[in-house]
Amino acid sequence: MVSTSTLQTVSRENEIVVSMREVTKRFPGVVANDRVTFEARRGEIHALLGENGAGKSTLMNVLTGLYTPEEGEIAINGQPAQFRSPKDSIAAGIGMVHQHFKLVETQTVTENVILGLDAPRFRLDMSRAEADVAKLSEQYGLKIDPKAYIWQLSVGEQQRVEIIKALYRGAQILILDEPTAVLTPQETEELFITLRDMVAKGHTIIFISHKLDEVMSIADRVTVLRGGKVVATVNARDTNKAELAEMMVGRPVLFRLDRPALEPGEMVLRVEELHAENDKGLPALRGISFYVRAREIVGIAGVSGNGQSELAEALNGLRPITRGRIFLNGREITTLSAREIIDAGVAHVPEDRHTDGSVGDMNLTENIILKRYRHPPIARGPVIDWNQAREMSSELVSRFNVQAPGLDTRARLLSGGNLQKLILARELSAEPALIVAMHPTQGLDVGATEYVRQVLLEQRAAGAAVLLISEDLDEVMQLSDRILVIYEGEIMGEASGEKADRAQIGLMMAGQRQEVGY
Ligand SMILES: Nc1ncnc2c1ncn2[C@@H]1O[C@H](COP(=O)(O)OP(=O)(O)O)[C@@H](O)[C@H]1O
Ligand SMILES: [Mg+2]
Repeated sequence: MVSTSTLQTVSRENEIVVSMREVTKRFPGVVANDRVTFEARRGEIHALLGENGAGKSTLMNVLTGLYTPEEGEIAINGQPAQFRSPKDSIAAGIGMVHQHFKLVETQTVTENVILGLDAPRFRLDMSRAEADVAKLSEQYGLKIDPKAYIWQLSVGEQQRVEIIKALYRGAQILILDEPTAVLTPQETEELFITLRDMVAKGHTIIFISHKLDEVMSIADRVTVLRGGKVVATVNARDTNKAELAEMMVGRPVLFRLDRPALEPGEMVLRVEELHAENDKGLPALRGISFYVRAREIVGIAGVSGNGQSELAEALNGLRPITRGRIFLNGREITTLSAREIIDAGVAHVPEDRHTDGSVGDMNLTENIILKRYRHPPIARGPVIDWNQAREMSSELVSRFNVQAPGLDTRARLLSGGNLQKLILARELSAEPALIVAMHPTQGLDVGATEYVRQVLLEQRAAGAAVLLISEDLDEVMQLSDRILVIYEGEIMGEASGEKADRAQIGLMMAGQRQEVGY
């Protein structure tokens, strides 16, 4: 008896629940999925790994019926499936938690969960739905108050609502698109516990990610996508980070950064009790104080949306400061304009490279001289010395390894990585005293990421003070000499870069204040 049931379990475990064969999905000018074959089994966590633009989200949007593929076949539980909308795929037991949640802020958790299903006619129906939500929350360890309003919830809690919503609709197959991007390390751990529990209960999880460490820690199998094509599907226990990285990027990747210990120099940036508002006029920075010295990288860690953008903008003169003071090398710069701050020696590696960092319709040379055409040697009296300008841009383009057809290429035609290198070339060649780098590697491939990090370390060694604002905690920990954690516009505490404890930083990211050393 026992052996029979064991056998049955085994065969059910290996059952293929998702089968996509030779699926092709094109967008104008790009083959997002190129004859992709992908299978997921019952009871497995299957990671879909690839760099930005590899085609991961598109493939899952095809699976859920949001997009119709040009070619290929899909079967769910052995049955051919042709979904015309996500409604069809939900009926077939597939749920997807998108990168950007689709919840209604002004409604409660339960109202969101039952949204689009038959409307409750009686108060009783709502309390029954609330009880169901509470039960799912209990069963899967997804802590949530069924009566809370969405706007009251943290991003991590909102994600739980999305998962419960899928489970409520009977999802056997759950797709999560880059789910950890919005989570603290603790929330990520909690999510992983839930996911392991779900597969133990027979669900299938398709886990989209571009992060190698988390894929290695959570996945049973990994399918790697590159440029819209499948590179391979492998068992997580038969592979390693280096091998996955090579499949993802198409060449070997070194995970080494040269970060020698350095004695920090003079205080370059001092921020005292800084206050600023967000675009809605609400307090975004609430009394922030810190300093950055020459030859050190200070990292600002935090979950997205806790005042990071406002801090970068305030420091660069792009956002009014309502209270507090900023000093650069002892000189107050609080009320200077953006241009005066640049002239004072502050470089800015912006969050949005396409709108803030570069002018798409200008060519490489014009972008390079964007901030210095008013000064010699580029300015000769009232005119621009184009020979000087081209010489400078040619030198920088080769020094920063910007891949482009020529100096006359318009910036909009560069890939994300090359555009970021162009911006770094411009910002760093002026030998700034302070570099404010906001998400400097977001969206870049592994190779370009490594290059950008190396450049920041070189700037540190050359004597610059670097303020690194990043939501990628691994990046902050890898590069920073000191780490400050921001939460709702306040600094929750400081950690030393070398001895930083992820768990402690995670607590601060969730709003728990720790003793600050100064
Ligand atoms: N709706 C769309 N319209 C046009 N192009 C798209 C659309 N969605 C994705 N793409 C393109 O398809 C490719 C794959 O994108 P995507 O599936 O989002 O990648 P990933 O999720 O792996 O980052 C990219 O080149 C992207 O620019
Ligand atoms: Mg995506």
